[in-house]
Amino acid sequence: MSKPLFIVLEGIDGSGTTTQLGLLERHLAGRGRRVHPTREPSQGPVGRLLREILLGGHRHADGAPVDGLAMALLFAADRRDHLCREIEPALAAGADVISDRYLLSSLAYQAQEAERDWVAGLARDLREPDLTLLLDVPVATAAERRRAAGRALERYDADDVQARVAARYRELVAADARAAVLDARGSIEEVARAVAATVDRLL
Ligand code: TYD
Repeated sequence: MSKPLFIVLEGIDGSGTTTQLGLLERHLAGRGRRVHPTREPSQGPVGRLLREILLGGHRHADGAPVDGLAMALLFAADRRDHLCREIEPALAAGADVISDRYLLSSLAYQAQEAERDWVAGLARDLREPDLTLLLDVPVATAAERRRAAGRALERYDADDVQARVAARYRELVAADARAAVLDARGSIEEVARAVAATVDRLL
């Protein structure tokens, strides 16, 4: 059995990372591996706060939302805590860790509101994933999937924001030897097969 892997799924909102994470968990378990599925924002204290803010909660007295750079700091804080409290212990215990979002989310989303270098600096010394897979879908397809799933409108959901995030994701993956882009326009099963085939090359 090869060493425990840290694998991350990324993509714009509605790209299918959550669905595919569940299927990847099944696939790896079927290969006899122990798997620890997780996500960011995490289930920890900072992650729970972030989810409430993303849905429009915790506003200032005048109704203003949390500042964009403060959001970047919160995502970075959540990631540190998630890494130390959950990801590292799971890897040390011999499980593969598969995460719905990680560092590339901050580099793609927060770099819309903050300096890229500053956002990248917040991630210095962070463990890098063994593989990051970008599920690439057109912005309109992802928006339609979110509508069909009845998902609540979130902070970064506007189409122009999602289009900039999508473009930034592609640039980031092209510059990262341990990242790959997958065409995620197909059926759930087709995308799951592509994810599994890419992951199997690491086993
Ligand atoms: P998402 O992963 O779609 O979760 P849910 O299914 O609960 O809506 O939502 C998380 C949102 O947070 C999404 O819009 C991306 C954003 N995000 C960032 O902007 N930066 C980050 O570092 C992370 C992890 C998420």
